Amino acid sequence: MQNFFSFLDPELAHNLSIKFLSTTGSSPFNILYKQALNHSPISVMGIEFRNKIGLAAGLDKNGEAIDAFDAMGFGYVEVGTVTPKPQPGNLKPRVYRLKKSRAVINRLGFNNKGVDNLLKNLKARRSLIPVGVNIGKNKSTPIESGKTDYLECMEKVYDHASYISVNISSPNTENLRALQTGDLLNDLLSSLKEKQHALASSSGKYVPLVLKIAPDLIVDELRTISEALKQHQFDGVIATNTTVDKTSVKGEKNSEQEGGLSGAPLCLKSTEIIKTLHQLLGDEIPILGVGGISSVEDGFEKIQAGAKLLQLYTGFIYEGLPLIRGLSRL
Ligand SMILES: Cc1cc2nc3c(=O)[nH]c(=O)nc-3n(C[C@H](O)[C@H](O)[C@H](O)COP(=O)(O)O)c2cc1C
Repeated sequence: MQNFFSFLDPELAHNLSIKFLSTTGSSPFNILYKQALNHSPISVMGIEFRNKIGLAAGLDKNGEAIDAFDAMGFGYVEVGTVTPKPQPGNLKPRVYRLKKSRAVINRLGFNNKGVDNLLKNLKARRSLIPVGVNIGKNKSTPIESGKTDYLECMEKVYDHASYISVNISSPNTENLRALQTGDLLNDLLSSLKEKQHALASSSGKYVPLVLKIAPDLIVDELRTISEALKQHQFDGVIATNTTVDKTSVKGEKNSEQEGGLSGAPLCLKSTEIIKTLHQLLGDEIPILGVGGISSVEDGFEKIQAGAKLLQLYTGFIYEGLPLIRGLSRL
């Protein structure tokens, strides 16, 4: 879809695409992108997925086009990152294409319309595919009290989410990634887990909790995170978010832009993180693999490395519908 608008500013192209998809998703016009696929179903975290390939967080931040992504053949959609209050994000321009490398650099900074608006869209969807909700904290909330934002979002979306993913790995919210280490991590995970138990018993529905991590972690940090995931009995982990390491795209136009790099140059790095995580976690905690998947082979390598499910963002922007078609058979 965005190929169609690729001559435009990337964020404008994105907004036009979401608008188009949200108005056509459950109408006969979805014939323009609807695909009938040979799915390869799988059950992970107690959820049935028709195939392993999901839409990664950030593309449909406000959950406006879930029906359209269902029509395209995705096995699941992760909406968000959503924050308790709406917020505008960083100054524009803040999204850059690196066409030669089939990559993107973004520093959006959790621009979104807030959790109440997302909830309205979740309730209005027709699609029955699993929907994960990715939650974060507002820029104005200090990092030390960040967990209150995560708890508020979790409580509000709980009844309408298939799983909830906890984003502590965006490079575009100051200090956010400090939550990936030490006492802040343990405190956050234990509070979320406690809330999950309370909500599960009041609603009678268990909604899995997964943690989304950065690709820029060293092995010791991955070890600490893995221990925390096991200790707090987290249900899954998403690896990875965008990277702040731009060495792989050095010299290319826009490569010096501040923000997180996604797309093809991230693929190997994120696969290595998945491999290490799988060595540390075994099959105890499922890994959702994301980062630079641009071909069926990339997806296959992430599964070989230990991922049970996959997600796409940048590869989908560049490769479009055929990539979903290929990956749905894995
Ligand atoms: C423009 C853009 C916005 C993103 N926004 C979010 C976000 O709000 N929350 C999040 O967890 N990840 C976000 N991501 C990261 C993606 O979900 C994904 O983890 C990352 O881009 C690596 O996958 P990819 O190489 O397939 O894009 C964003 C990525 C891009 C390119």
